Amino acid sequence: MHWRTGKEIRSLFIDFWISKGSKHCPSFSLIPNDPTLLFTIAGMVPFKPYYLGIEQPDFTRAVTSQKCVRTNDIENVGRTARHHTFFEMLGNFSWGDYFKREAITWAWEFLTDVIGLEPERLYATIYKDDEEAYSVWRNEVGLPNERIYRFDKDENFWFMGNVGPCGPCSEIIYDQGPDFSCGKPTCAVGCSCDRYLEIWNLVFTQFDLQEDGSLKPLPKKNIDTGMGLERLTSVVQRVRTDFETDLFKPLIDHACSMTGVTYGASRSDDLAVRVIADHVRSVAFMIADGILPSNEGRGYVLRRLIRRAARYGKLLGLDRPFLLDFLPDVLQLMADPYRELVDNRPMIEQIVAMEEKRFGKTLQQGTELIDQEISSLKGQRGHELSGAVAFELYDTYGFPLELTKEICAENDVDIDEKGFQEEMEKQRERARASSKQISSEMKGDVYSLIAADIGLTAFEGYTLSEQETEVQALIKDGQQIHTLSAGERGEVVLKATPFYAERGGQIGDQGFLIAPGMK
Ligand code: SER
Repeated sequence: MHWRTGKEIRSLFIDFWISKGSKHCPSFSLIPNDPTLLFTIAGMVPFKPYYLGIEQPDFTRAVTSQKCVRTNDIENVGRTARHHTFFEMLGNFSWGDYFKREAITWAWEFLTDVIGLEPERLYATIYKDDEEAYSVWRNEVGLPNERIYRFDKDENFWFMGNVGPCGPCSEIIYDQGPDFSCGKPTCAVGCSCDRYLEIWNLVFTQFDLQEDGSLKPLPKKNIDTGMGLERLTSVVQRVRTDFETDLFKPLIDHACSMTGVTYGASRSDDLAVRVIADHVRSVAFMIADGILPSNEGRGYVLRRLIRRAARYGKLLGLDRPFLLDFLPDVLQLMADPYRELVDNRPMIEQIVAMEEKRFGKTLQQGTELIDQEISSLKGQRGHELSGAVAFELYDTYGFPLELTKEICAENDVDIDEKGFQEEMEKQRERARASSKQISSEMKGDVYSLIAADIGLTAFEGYTLSEQETEVQALIKDGQQIHTLSAGERGEVVLKATPFYAERGGQIGDQGFLIAPGMK
């Protein structure tokens, strides 16, 4: 097997499937066009309508290297060799075209002929009674019976979520050798250690999972495969973790030189530099796809990632904003083929700087508070951080609940989540009550009504002179209206502004509002 760069592997995969008649689609956005998902979690997500037969593509075979975000295992990122919040999934897809035979034999051809993996180190798993898949592995590929493993639904049936396309799957496993084994006598295919590594998941997407749990057959038989680029690269480059591949190493090296850490010398330092390396990639890609930090949904995930990385930086002694120092590395590694990183670089810089600065101000105080609380709890029975403290950390110091939970878990302390939710509800009540009060006191004043309804405009002009924001309301002749057309005069209420308003004898700032197609 030749040593190859991650970039080469990505291109080889795409070219291979083009040679099998597939259309190459550039990666779709991380924001799926699908209300059941927060992020694009797999290569098939953008193609869901084709699986369901709701839309017909003008091609029946496709290949992608798809940007994906998964945060369900975020606490494991950095602790294991292969958990990431952002990763690329290499995938080939067929809708009512080729099926199990081609999906399996071509996958084998790619791994053994193109990548050069040793056939004797490869195994396959199949869904327990999938005789068709068994027969292809046994008779067409020629894999010996003892290298084909049958597993149940938990292992060999892939679901996208609680509803949607799904089906039995077959995984290809690569034996990395005894050096990678957990050493248990039971270590074999199916063991969760790194010896028998699952490298490629071939899903035979035949069903649509219904809300009631039943499986409705899809109009056509389809293929959906997924192989993590980072993982395959680690196999090809024969390194122990994905973080040592050329897709991550420059980020790891940079984090080490910045903090004086020697990689491999301490578990906790390794964890911190890996978290930083992982999260800077996710953060850059998420913002490039238009996600902004907020207190809910995707924006909250982004905020968590930035704050989590900031905290790990602090653990390594970084007392200043540092995430943007990694942006040139991310661009160097990923701008080809992900041009959106270059196009949106100013946006990434602005958002990360703002968010890191905002959290940086309170991170120190919040850390002191939680450290104090945890050390006072340690001697006590029950070991529970109160909901009120967790809420104070959230509300005053900007610690996402999950971050507080993680710090507690590191210290073996529980957290009163119910108490936290109660505090949260109390705060919502207070907000509702005060907004009612404002609107009744100020009845008739359009500005106060708008403020009571949507909140005040955030003034950010001490740090910014331009920014992206949203129009919250329009006013004309003292009335709130829905549109202002070219040539009309009116007032625009923004969510945030860098413009100083006339006040205290100082005149207001002047400038432009720019949006696509207008200035
Ligand atoms: N959708 C499957 C997975 O995510 C195969 O791509 O594993």
